[in-house]
Amino acid sequence: MATRISNTTPEESHLNDAAAANGGIADFDYSNFYYSSADDIFAIFDPYNEWWYGHARDNGYYLFSQPMSTPPRPRIELEEQLGHERLKLLNLASYNYLGLSYHPEVIDAAKNALDHYGLGAAGSPILSGTMEIHVQLEKELAKFKKKDAAMVFATGYSTNVGLIQALMRPGDWVIMDQNVHASIVDGAILSKANVRFFRHNRPDDLEKKLGGTTGKRLVIVEGVYSMDGDEARLPEIIEVAKRHGARTMIDEAHSTFLYGKDGRGVAEKYGLEDEIDIHVGTFSKALGGMGGFVAGSQALYNYLMGFARSRVFSCALSPAVAAGVLQALKIVQREPQLRDALWSNVAYMRGLLGEAGIDVGESTSQIIPIMIRNDRKIFGVAQSLQRAGLYLQPIIYPAVAKHRSRFRISISATHTTQQLDEAAAILSDVLQAEGLR
Ligand SMILES: Cc1ncc(COP(=O)(O)O)c(C=O)c1O
Repeated sequence: MATRISNTTPEESHLNDAAAANGGIADFDYSNFYYSSADDIFAIFDPYNEWWYGHARDNGYYLFSQPMSTPPRPRIELEEQLGHERLKLLNLASYNYLGLSYHPEVIDAAKNALDHYGLGAAGSPILSGTMEIHVQLEKELAKFKKKDAAMVFATGYSTNVGLIQALMRPGDWVIMDQNVHASIVDGAILSKANVRFFRHNRPDDLEKKLGGTTGKRLVIVEGVYSMDGDEARLPEIIEVAKRHGARTMIDEAHSTFLYGKDGRGVAEKYGLEDEIDIHVGTFSKALGGMGGFVAGSQALYNYLMGFARSRVFSCALSPAVAAGVLQALKIVQREPQLRDALWSNVAYMRGLLGEAGIDVGESTSQIIPIMIRNDRKIFGVAQSLQRAGLYLQPIIYPAVAKHRSRFRISISATHTTQQLDEAAAILSDVLQAEGLR
């Protein structure tokens, strides 16, 4: 059970079944609040806030942004939505796949850089914001990825937006898997290139979508898809793209530092690193930091320096974070046993969920969706999980398609098998009680 830190009893909590049954709420999601017929931009605020306070938040149907008062470890404390109580929960929701966000060496490296450089870079990377620690990080990344060069961005999001906008122009074609991350979609929109989506992980559909396109084409996939936890069918997809003469890009946000013998990602696993033109990764997942990078040729690096607007016109990554990330990168290379521990935990948890007959969709990775497929029910289930002591975030539209709602388990190398047993037992009981298993 969740350990209650405040004096509030379960009966006093607003997150109860009676409230969950309060009608109307689940008939709304963000898509109801994109447009209003009024001329005033602010007119949409009233109906949105009425929904937000009157239904979503007060009935516990909005379980996002609950403030955590601990590091993202396997056991955490967080504040329940209305702030009435603090919960001690078993955490399977953080991206901290290798537990590096709170590794003592990472913290020390960040602290030393903080003492040395101060808090911020105080400038764009192309102006005064590049410090020696950024250059060291880029050099070490390029070496690790076995590429000529690597460029660091302040976030993974701005990496994709800046990269795609820098390369693609109106009249060109961005052809991407339908499940790619919002940052890739946003980069494509910003570039004003023509956009086509191919059906998720379907080389045959990519073939169709490439058909009839001419000129500059960029095909984009992810290594491991962030919401379904399945791997790209890389060999077939890259074959199709290359046969059509398109350039290729892979975002390995959830697979760099984890997949492949040396941790370089799914492209390494399939021996396709040299076949793919542009490699993207983030520091916010396996390295437990923040920021993103592009790895590729020196010529690509030089062009992005001038044209990736999200980097040119934005402050550089904090030097303290850069130093922490650099140390995390060194640990990943020094301690491959961290990856072994992660994969052994993943296999263990998959076994438990399989035995319990829980629907994990197409996942093959450390990201394991617990498919609920019921947008109306998922918040009630999330409350039950929290009451039973397990922290998992509900994932709904627009992060996934409607009726594809799920919880997303992120396994970490730092979970113990006892913790995974506990999590699987809670899930199994709660899903059974909710008639979802
Ligand atoms: C595939 C993918 N790319 C990019 C990003 C954005 O990365 P960041 O959160 O580091 O900005 C994410 C975030 O979850 C992601 O899943």
